[in-house]
Amino acid sequence: MTGAQQPGEPRLVPVPDEIASAEELADDTALRVDETAVEDVRAQHEEGAEGALLRADSLVAGYVPGVNILNGADLYLQDSELIGIIGPNGAGKSTLLKAMFGLIPVRSGTITLRGQDITSAAAHVLVSQGLGYVPQNNNVFPSLTLEENLQMGVYLRPRSFAKRFQFVAELFPLLAERRKQKAGALSGGERQMVAMGRALMMEPSVLLLDEPSAGLSPAYQDEVFIRCRRINATGVSIIMVEQNARRCLQICDRAYVLDQGRNAYTGTGRDLLEDPKVIELYLGTLAKVV
Ligand SMILES: Nc1ncnc2c1ncn2[C@@H]1O[C@H](COP(=O)(O)OP(=O)(O)OP(=O)(O)O)[C@@H](O)[C@H]1O
Ligand SMILES: [Mg+2]
Repeated sequence: MTGAQQPGEPRLVPVPDEIASAEELADDTALRVDETAVEDVRAQHEEGAEGALLRADSLVAGYVPGVNILNGADLYLQDSELIGIIGPNGAGKSTLLKAMFGLIPVRSGTITLRGQDITSAAAHVLVSQGLGYVPQNNNVFPSLTLEENLQMGVYLRPRSFAKRFQFVAELFPLLAERRKQKAGALSGGERQMVAMGRALMMEPSVLLLDEPSAGLSPAYQDEVFIRCRRINATGVSIIMVEQNARRCLQICDRAYVLDQGRNAYTGTGRDLLEDPKVIELYLGTLAKVV
């Protein structure tokens, strides 16, 4: 074997230096969650979580027996905060929200709301205690009108419909303008507003939002982020999971980078936007603070 190319053989194109090999990529994934960083995050959690409105400690949860998706995730939300959770696909972001909203059993760890243990409490109980949740997908009843969708949101307190509808319609005027229209006829962005409106009907003190900007045009994405800040300004504390990491970090008070079911980094949105490790691993080389 001389190594020289023979006529008729496919030409081998050299791999450019900057393209990582499969082994390097695998190494990169393995190295992504750095144990020292995880310890730092834990320490920051212990320091900041005192008196939190909502708090999760060392959560372990999963779907299939013997397979954990959350591997000791910690999180706290102080009153009036808007916090973000970013991280790669499959990191466990949606799973973390589902565990906090009682949709999957927690295997170990605790969740408290205003200091009360709510670990594995049922979703309808959590709703009555002031928790609202907007899932990533299928978050409206398409065959119902906008108004009926909002009525579903307030089924536990039907008499407060008119008052809450007025509040929600001020945030999302579309909901009043098109209240008799079927939700199935709406665009993705409009459905997102119905879903958020429905969660707000119960006057939650905490809103859990799973990728509110997913699948929307850039203009609608901006609109959703602005609405989230506006909802937060009315006194609703928010935990927002987002794929649009940079935009999320720009608007949130604090954020967590979740990777492999644990918090790899945490800090203010601005700190994380400027952190070279976070930029390299999670935001891409083009990440810039604007
Ligand atoms: N219902 C389910 N049954 C079994 N495994 C699941 C289920 N839902 C999610 N998983 C697995 O759990 C892991 C984490 O999923 P999760 O949806 O929490 O990730 P994510 O961080 O929200 O990702 P994405 O950015 O794609 O929304 C994935 O490996 C996924 O395949
Ligand atoms: Mg998800």
